[in-house]
Amino acid sequence: MTRPYLLRPALLQAARSPRIQRLITRVPATKNVVKRFVAGETEDDAVAAAKTVLHTGRSITIDYLGEDTTNLEQANRTVTQYLSLLSSLTQLVASDNEGGQRHRLEFSLKLSALGQLLPGDGEKVALANVHKICAAAEEAGVWVTVDAEDHTTTDSTLAIVRAARQDFPTLGTVLQAYLKRTEADCKDLAGPGSRIRLCKGAYNEPASVAYQSKIEVDEAYVRCMVTLMSGSGYPMVASHDPRMIEAALHNAAINGRTAEEFELQMLYGIRDAEQLRLAREHQHVRVYLPYGDEWYGYFMRRLAERPANLTLFLRALATRQ
Ligand code: FDA
Repeated sequence: MTRPYLLRPALLQAARSPRIQRLITRVPATKNVVKRFVAGETEDDAVAAAKTVLHTGRSITIDYLGEDTTNLEQANRTVTQYLSLLSSLTQLVASDNEGGQRHRLEFSLKLSALGQLLPGDGEKVALANVHKICAAAEEAGVWVTVDAEDHTTTDSTLAIVRAARQDFPTLGTVLQAYLKRTEADCKDLAGPGSRIRLCKGAYNEPASVAYQSKIEVDEAYVRCMVTLMSGSGYPMVASHDPRMIEAALHNAAINGRTAEEFELQMLYGIRDAEQLRLAREHQHVRVYLPYGDEWYGYFMRRLAERPANLTLFLRALATRQ
């Protein structure tokens, strides 16, 4: 039986604490560990990392880090940042698309960074911002997928995605297998043209809405994946778990899907050798590549996922490396 990772809830709570954020981000040693999971703080860092990953035959999805914005200016700055990144990547996109492999580049967006939580008309602002990014991305041949945040935002996020898909039918979205509602959402969203990234889920969720034990989450993940693989959409299997990857390959095969009809996705810096092995075996592997200086929440969720990541961080603090 798997032992639960006891520090997970505390670390996930700390991920939302401004006080702990100030403490952790001020320690110089932190940045050395952050580098393992985040491509860098600047757009140049993101472009350089994107080139490196693309040269290895993997695809990428880039996330400009930031979340929980309650400031309109900041939400607008996030849009500007994506548009600027797109123009920096234009050459890369053009040469990539000439190679006949479209959509090796994708953007991942967090709606809470685009204004979703602004009081009053937050959803409208986020939808308008998604439109701006999708319009530019579509013209450049870049896909867009909306990340999943905590469960209080799920209804709103799916409503915004549905509205934006009227104009941008390839807009993808993330579903979190730990949420009890997700099996139904998968059934709902497994139709033609739908791109769904399935992950286990990274937030601190109550038992009323989410499975709590690893075994329940893993079983739910497989059930959701089976639904997506047997549907007519485009499943994106986001997991580092060897058993989930094996189940994905098995289910793709029994549903007659070729490697072009689904993707395996992993986070930047996690199981890199396995990502490369799968790419060499002609699987479509996409790397989630985050960059920007708002890395705190993302970094804390990575520490919460795996005791080994926390150990690495504590060792760096102790040795001040
Ligand atoms: P899990 O953490 O349960 O690990 C299972 C097994 O995988 C381990 O026992 C080990 O064998 C192997 N493994 C995991 N990490 C390893 C490592 N570092 N080295 C070696 N082996 C390792 N979450 C969310 O809530 N909203 C979102 O929008 C997204 N988006 C997203 C995109 C992509 C592309 C990915 C890959 C993940 C997300 N996530 C996410 C995060 C996701 O919900 C989840 O927290 C992490 O992927 C961890 O879950 P795993 O499925 O990897 O397995």
